[in-house]
Amino acid sequence: MKGDITRADTDAIVNAANSSLLGGGGVDGAIHRAAGPELLEYCRGLNGCETGHCKSTPGFKLLAKHIIHTVGPIWKGGNEKEAELLVSCYENSIREADRLGVESIAFPAVSCGIYKFPKVQATEIALSTCVKSFQFCENLRRLVFVPFDEEMLEIYLNSISAQPAFTPE
Ligand code: APR
Repeated sequence: MKGDITRADTDAIVNAANSSLLGGGGVDGAIHRAAGPELLEYCRGLNGCETGHCKSTPGFKLLAKHIIHTVGPIWKGGNEKEAELLVSCYENSIREADRLGVESIAFPAVSCGIYKFPKVQATEIALSTCVKSFQFCENLRRLVFVPFDEEMLEIYLNSISAQPAFTPE
């Protein structure tokens, strides 16, 4: 679903946050703007989050009931475990969503903007990790990927068609 993740009608949306969890630019800025100032207040009490991990908050003014804030790796050339850390972001976000009992979750292209992760590799990690993690979920039934622009949409569609487990809606 190309577009603005803050308008996704899923039970949870994932935020590509930074380790402070105190907001930023990109999708982080958009989610904080849409959720309203209570989100920042709530995040102040979370004491940050490590790269590869996630923490959840209410959605406040968003349609989504929950926001799962994950901290993606900054791309540093590929030799500093960036791929493993991005896998962890998706694994941990899906695990947290299932723990919260949500049935649907929307992901932005974590680390593909300001953090400069190569987009095709990041998308392949996103899809393959979600396919694997999804099998162990009790509650989660629907995964939505939300590329923000045409370029990312093309990358997702190409990658999805290469993943037999997905049938794009
Ligand atoms: N909805 C969906 N996707 C969006 C939106 C939006 N409203 N706004 C931006 N994006 C897309 C970007 O186009 C990119 O493809 O989200 C993807 C992730 O880009 P960033 O938001 O820059 O996130 P990331 O690369 O993970 O960098 C995280 O950026 O915003 C700061 O605080 C954040 O420091 C952290 C860093």
